[in-house]
Amino acid sequence: MIRSIGVFDSGLGGLTVVRQLRLALPNENIIYLGDTARVPYGTKSPRTVERYALICQRFLLQHPLSLVMVACNTASANALPAMAEASPVPVIGAVEPGAMSALAASRSKNIAVLGTLGTIASGAYERAISAADKSAHVVTLACPLFVPLAEEGWGDSDIALAVAKRYLEPLFAEHKKIDTIVLGCTHYPLLRDVIAKVCESSCDHEVAIVDSAAAMARSASRTLGRKPQDKETKSRGTLRCFVTDASRMEELAPRFLGETLDSLELVDL
Ligand code: DGL
Repeated sequence: MIRSIGVFDSGLGGLTVVRQLRLALPNENIIYLGDTARVPYGTKSPRTVERYALICQRFLLQHPLSLVMVACNTASANALPAMAEASPVPVIGAVEPGAMSALAASRSKNIAVLGTLGTIASGAYERAISAADKSAHVVTLACPLFVPLAEEGWGDSDIALAVAKRYLEPLFAEHKKIDTIVLGCTHYPLLRDVIAKVCESSCDHEVAIVDSAAAMARSASRTLGRKPQDKETKSRGTLRCFVTDASRMEELAPRFLGETLDSLELVDL
């Protein structure tokens, strides 16, 4: 039986993870579910996020899967243990890979994590980073306005730059040694360039910007035991995309995926 990788996000941001998965594992079939009817998760309570995440996972598991990937930092931060317990296949979240990428990138171990209100309130990134390196100094900041800017396609605009300055300049003023920023939300990679500009103008040293997407793809490859040579010998995998609300999907999805969607299916959960 051919098994797919199931990828879940509160909305379409998780397509940034699918983009990396398609590069790292081009032969895998992927089933994506974006809970677009209930997005954002970032402002909801942990219990609600866990409830929604379990409903979404249950839908994905109706298909033959090799792996579940929680391509939503808020759900990873608040629902991963419950999801892992309820799943017969391995579940990969976004927090652990993002935390490990930050530690690998940081020289001084002064790390700033940006995320939704729900991710930051959970403390999940601090826990994951300090479990791996007790000496690391972690500061966190919720940047809720980044999500609508990314969805609007304004991630690289003057307005996004002004918002990024407003969030990040006080952070750098208070924590001068930060040398690594974690984009702890699936939408934030769309604001990477403006965040980089603020880092450049606020710091006299280089600041690395990392996100979970590529690290999650590497983790999937390891978990599935895939080898680099598989890429050349097998045909390209399919991408099946489900959403719980289809409004503006044709316009929004390519912003995150970097290509147009072949198919979009509406599901009522
Ligand atoms: N996907 C969410 C995350 O990565 C961001 C959007 C939301 O708030 O649901 O945290």
